[in-house]
Amino acid sequence: MAAKAAHEIVPRQDLDFHLQSDDIPRFWYGNDPFKTRFFDAMSLLFPEGEKFFIQCVRDYRDRIDDPQLQAEVKDFTFQEAQHTRVHIEFNRRVERQGVDVSEVEAMQKKVLNWYRRYFPRKFTLAQTAAAEHMTALMAHFVLENSEMLAEADPRIRAIYFWHAIEEIEHKAVAYDVMQKVAKAGYFTRVAAMINLSLAFPFHVLMIMRHMLRVDGFSGRERRRIWLKGLWWLYGPRGIYARMMRHYISYYRPGYHPWDKGETRAFQRWREEYDRHDGDAVAASDSFLAAA
Ligand SMILES: [Fe+2]
Ligand SMILES: [Fe+2]
Repeated sequence: MAAKAAHEIVPRQDLDFHLQSDDIPRFWYGNDPFKTRFFDAMSLLFPEGEKFFIQCVRDYRDRIDDPQLQAEVKDFTFQEAQHTRVHIEFNRRVERQGVDVSEVEAMQKKVLNWYRRYFPRKFTLAQTAAAEHMTALMAHFVLENSEMLAEADPRIRAIYFWHAIEEIEHKAVAYDVMQKVAKAGYFTRVAAMINLSLAFPFHVLMIMRHMLRVDGFSGRERRRIWLKGLWWLYGPRGIYARMMRHYISYYRPGYHPWDKGETRAFQRWREEYDRHDGDAVAASDSFLAAA
């Protein structure tokens, strides 16, 4: 197979993660309720979030003159729509476990509609670019530290590897529309990032709080789960500390998402995906085995 062009956005579709299987454990991430629910909480936010991103980029679609950027917007939209499809299916599983998915989505919709109503289009696009930086930095982290998902269920792990790959592929699209078409300045870009940096973890933690209650843990058990989990996330060697440098780079005036280029891990997953003829689960297993 020919080598892929740099930063190519591949429109993959109808991937099967075998989510209908009934042997996927409730705590699919190494039987760890905190880690599982952390990813589950993000999954709950994806469908409405991604719909919002698509909308905010599309606000500027008619003003894009560059055919290359136009094509990228199309591919970005396609990829996000695929993510939404898979996460909706995954979220149905979570709903069957007793989690109030529709309530979470209704709340999120309210918040996002509020932004659409009271803030300029330039700002909601900047929020999208900020969110794309967040997802891209998590994506880079997950692929480069893939062994962290070794204890996760292979099917769900594959969803996150695939989603990570595509988030990297299209990571500059919203940003380029914001810079080149909406001409948003530094202040707007950074204000939106600060806004997101406060709102996003808050929402994730609130959803997790609800989930861990639904899971039936006692107050004492929950306290233990939270202490251990927050250390995993926010401790000095925790996930956030290790992502901090990449996160901070967004505040540099001349920043561009492709300042961090394609990594070996990124290329390796794409090679495995081709080698396995589009079977994302098998590709992810080989990708991890060789890590
Ligand atoms: Fe996505
Ligand atoms: Fe994205």
